[in-house]
Amino acid sequence: MKFFIDTANIDQIRQAQALGILDGVTTNPSLMAKEGIKGESNIRNHYKQICDIVKGPVSAEVISTDFEGIIREGESLAEIDPNIVIKVPMLPDGVKAIKYFSEKGLKTNCTLVFSAGQALLAAKAGATYVSPFIGRLDDISYDGIELIQQIRLIYDNYLYETQILAASVRHTLHVIKCAEAGADVMTGPLQSIMGLFNHPLTDIGLKKFLEDFHRSQQ
Ligand code: G3P
Repeated sequence: MKFFIDTANIDQIRQAQALGILDGVTTNPSLMAKEGIKGESNIRNHYKQICDIVKGPVSAEVISTDFEGIIREGESLAEIDPNIVIKVPMLPDGVKAIKYFSEKGLKTNCTLVFSAGQALLAAKAGATYVSPFIGRLDDISYDGIELIQQIRLIYDNYLYETQILAASVRHTLHVIKCAEAGADVMTGPLQSIMGLFNHPLTDIGLKKFLEDFHRSQQ
């Protein structure tokens, strides 16, 4: 399973990249706003900075909701760097735009997906990635992981090549459950990745190995 980091924070992207296991980055307008990135040229520079740090797919989201606007914005975002993936919301005009981008060979990420039917539409349009938001489903007492399993089954039935990018991942258990369910990619905050390192038996075992080594050298 590929690991993407879901943030626009440059320090956190650098930290994840330094681990050597980062495959890409996803952002959204809320994450960009959180970093205080304002104005078109600052937004473009920020995406370029991210692309210079991580040599993998970087999702940049359009703000337009009409077909022409999505096309205009998406093509402009794609010019920033060859690794830019145009992130398009799940809407009729969004699906139409994904089809257009896919025919032009531009990579897309269909975002704000909350049902198997929406995921089917994204795959039929040729989306590179589909982003089911598992945490937000859990928030309203629906099982986000069940949605990943359902989409996996449907995509495998018809050999759709759209990659399942589990989004709105909140914690380490989500990461594990996404891997069990066969998600192609998970995107989560830095702590959902760093938390995977933790196990008390690792800490206890390492302490003992080091103590035994130092004792044997005295
Ligand atoms: O990738 C989508 C993600 O940014 C949404 O996460 O935690 O706001 O539901 P969250």
